[in-house]
Amino acid sequence: MRFELQSGRALLVSGPASLMVEKGSAEILGAPLHPKHGVVIKKEKQLPIETVEDSVLEARLGERASYLEIDGTTIPESWYAAVEAFKSLGRGRAFVLGSADTGKSTFCTFLTNHMIKAGAEVSVVDADIGQSDLGPPGTVGLSIIKRPMTALEYAGVYRMAFVGETSPSPVTERVIESIVKVADRAPEDIPMVINTDGWITDGDAVTFKVRMIRRLMPDLIIGLAERDELDEILDATTVPSVKIQVPKYVKARGREERRRLREYGYRRYLRGAVHKNIFLERVKIDGLLKARCKGKELLGFLDSDGLLLGIGILESLIRRRKILRAYTNVSSREVAEIDCGRIRLSCRGEELD
Ligand SMILES: Nc1ncnc2c1ncn2[C@@H]1O[C@H](COP(=O)(O)OP(=O)(O)OP(=O)(O)O)[C@@H](O)[C@H]1O
Ligand SMILES: [Mg+2]
Repeated sequence: MRFELQSGRALLVSGPASLMVEKGSAEILGAPLHPKHGVVIKKEKQLPIETVEDSVLEARLGERASYLEIDGTTIPESWYAAVEAFKSLGRGRAFVLGSADTGKSTFCTFLTNHMIKAGAEVSVVDADIGQSDLGPPGTVGLSIIKRPMTALEYAGVYRMAFVGETSPSPVTERVIESIVKVADRAPEDIPMVINTDGWITDGDAVTFKVRMIRRLMPDLIIGLAERDELDEILDATTVPSVKIQVPKYVKARGREERRRLREYGYRRYLRGAVHKNIFLERVKIDGLLKARCKGKELLGFLDSDGLLLGIGILESLIRRRKILRAYTNVSSREVAEIDCGRIRLSCRGEELD
């Protein structure tokens, strides 16, 4: 399908779709679309394509894909104001806060791209363990981003820490320690964007987020808020904050879609996995022993610094012979410790109940 878009108009595409700029100039969240380079939009996702000049786009739309042509932009004014507020700090940490489906990941991509356009490399910490863009679900990932990207999920991951859960409530301290662990590995002289999970409404969530903020000491909190839902968190800290608008065109995801997105994530990080025996002679397995595993649990293979090398799935543990059998692509030579999560998976990366 061909779209002729005038400058100043946007095309909002819900996947599954792929598209390409044939003529003219367009961008997604500040990342230019290079002519002849295709962009893929998964069926659970939606992306806004904005024209910089009159453009022709060629799109392939899959089953149930949809599109909407918009006069203007889907990016709220306040998003630009938040970018300027962060730019004026030069560097430091921006902490992005908001409920589920408010546009946190999209805003983090937008902010990162605009910081890069202003001349910076940017480190991004993705602490949303349930709907992560960097690293598989159940982990906290850090990337160093040098070029604008249409979606952060395409960035390579520089460091990861293992949590092993997709919901933060039972593992709040672990999530905070994992963020600190990867954030400490980021270069200090470049700005950092921190994305967070969408658990904000009850008292425990407020305590969790306030503790996270105190520990990470961000320089600016950027809250995606519909009304006053973030105020209790923001009022409990002295960190400067700006509230920005939840986009009108945000697309909420259901449980099934969230689960499918997580499953893509596991699969991506299990690519090339084989069934292998790992000798535990010099490997710490305290976490694994404490977890009382049934089998099929998500495993984290850690290096000697406690950072995640990669994931796997537990097949069996033969304590007598000090052998662990797992499905993984991690090379056992570098493994200093193996940890066990509560998520259980099939070898095809499907979540088991
Ligand atoms: N400004 C925008 N213009 C068009 N679409 C948007 C915009 N912001 C968000 N969306 C779309 O809405 C959906 C949800 O946004 P996003 O994934 O950024 O939210 P989130 O708060 O990170 O969600 P989660 O709670 O799952 O992490 C995505 O498909 C995204 O592309
Ligand atoms: Mg997100």
